[in-house]
Amino acid sequence: MNNELGPKPQIIAFCCMHCAYAAADLAGSSRFSYPTALKIVALPCTGRTDMGHILKTFEDGADGVLVAGCLPGRCHYLAGNLYAKQRVDYVGDLLEQIGLQSERLRMINISAGMGAKFAELANEFAHTITALGPTGLTKKPSSKEFPLPAGKTT
Ligand code: FES
Repeated sequence: MNNELGPKPQIIAFCCMHCAYAAADLAGSSRFSYPTALKIVALPCTGRTDMGHILKTFEDGADGVLVAGCLPGRCHYLAGNLYAKQRVDYVGDLLEQIGLQSERLRMINISAGMGAKFAELANEFAHTITALGPTGLTKKPSSKEFPLPAGKTT
């Protein structure tokens, strides 16, 4: 997707529904703007995010991935946000090894009442991703993923 300012980055934010998702909602209702390029996926806890999810998100065309969880000590599942941070750090190292920048993946910790902070961090991350440019990993759909209707051969 292009506009007059150049390619629009694709950013996926895995947000814990107890904190970051509510913070994003608060940012919107408080009229703190954050980039429309940021697409939010709500999770019950960032501990649900695994390395495969993150890598597949890049493989599917994301230029940046944000993982947003509860503040340290406030995870509803005790340590889900800590496990998520370990995974984010590990995948960041993997990104460097395959020639991508680890800055494309970031974890933030935020509470439900921090709408303005969410908007600020989302804008800052989007700025970083825009400066880095596309990953070049955009996946092309294969015929196996989008099978032809019955009876069609081409
Ligand atoms: Fe929010 Fe675990 S419940 S990060």
